[in-house]
Amino acid sequence: NPHQRVLTWTTFNRTSRSTVWYGTERLNKVAYGDHGTLFTDGGPEKRSMYIHRVYLNDLEPNTTYKYHVGSELGWSELFLFRTFPDGYQWSPRFAVYGDLGNDNAQAMGRLQMEAQNGQYDFVWHLGDFAYNLEDDNAKVGDEFMRQIEPIAAYVPYLVTPGNHEEAYNFSNYDNRFTMHSNTGNEAISNFFWSQNIGPVHLISISTEFYYFPKWYGALQLDNQFRWLEADLEKANRPENRARQPWIIVGGHRPFYVNTYIDRKLQTAFEELFWRTGVDIYMAGHEHIFDLSYPVYREQVKGKSFANPAATIYIISGSAGCIANISEFSAWPPPYTAKVSGEYGFSSMTVINATTIHFQQINHEQAFFEVVHDMYITKEKHGPYH
Ligand SMILES: [Fe+2]
Repeated sequence: NPHQRVLTWTTFNRTSRSTVWYGTERLNKVAYGDHGTLFTDGGPEKRSMYIHRVYLNDLEPNTTYKYHVGSELGWSELFLFRTFPDGYQWSPRFAVYGDLGNDNAQAMGRLQMEAQNGQYDFVWHLGDFAYNLEDDNAKVGDEFMRQIEPIAAYVPYLVTPGNHEEAYNFSNYDNRFTMHSNTGNEAISNFFWSQNIGPVHLISISTEFYYFPKWYGALQLDNQFRWLEADLEKANRPENRARQPWIIVGGHRPFYVNTYIDRKLQTAFEELFWRTGVDIYMAGHEHIFDLSYPVYREQVKGKSFANPAATIYIISGSAGCIANISEFSAWPPPYTAKVSGEYGFSSMTVINATTIHFQQINHEQAFFEVVHDMYITKEKHGPYH
């Protein structure tokens, strides 16, 4: 929302009211929350912390604001963010990746640099954080949040849950982040949500509902699917597609990988994606860059990224974690367009209704290289049949 931001931070003591001072020149406006939500980690020490959330609701579009957060007891450093332009005819730029931890965080430095340098409007982390948020009584989670502060204090840090967030019913993940839908489809926040940003409709789903039934049984799985189906059908209506022609779905686990197909997820979602014309499904989990041709029911629907005749599947799961790069097949299946085993992340610019510029950035320590550069173009968005 070009008029709104939500700021989330943590203190280890109860404070006076959660407060944000902000403004374009001076810190002359103020917004308040409550005293923070008490979160207790599930580990043996039962460490507690207060999660503060404050909404800024009266922002001007396309404007840079300075701010600091805290309370009368003390303030953060001074940060800044720029609000989104109004309307849908602008070109969002974002970094998207999965599987980024504290140790071996290969892409972290570049992401911090580029976020602060204004190269992205937002970033999207497709699950597997910190390795793991709950480790060492959630001190690893604290450290991870400190490491992403140089990104998340400047641009919205969108999140999707992965298998590594599973502990104590995903409670560290659910408490430490703040996600919403702005599309009129209420979400189970942080687990599934959808956002209209410029000409793109983004949807995040939890693939983990299919893998950790101990926390939910079939209930969340069913909730999510009904929500997703309604969200996609609405997004695909002509009047909505006229504003947001691109539909990108993100989830932690991939469907089409050069070494296997996730049959559970394929069975659950592929037909829905086909029928509602999902342009791209983005995932992490496998620690590689893996790009599919347009594919449906394992059938390659042409080897072109100009007017693709089915959903394209992209894995960008090599931002950097303690486990190394995943193995990949020397003889990939026909649906595999490209596989790369370098650390890095994806950078996307949704230029307009017809064109997306996609780059896979290899970033290992100080070494930088664009390993894949392509344009995805589409004259007409909608169902594939
Ligand atoms: Fe994973």
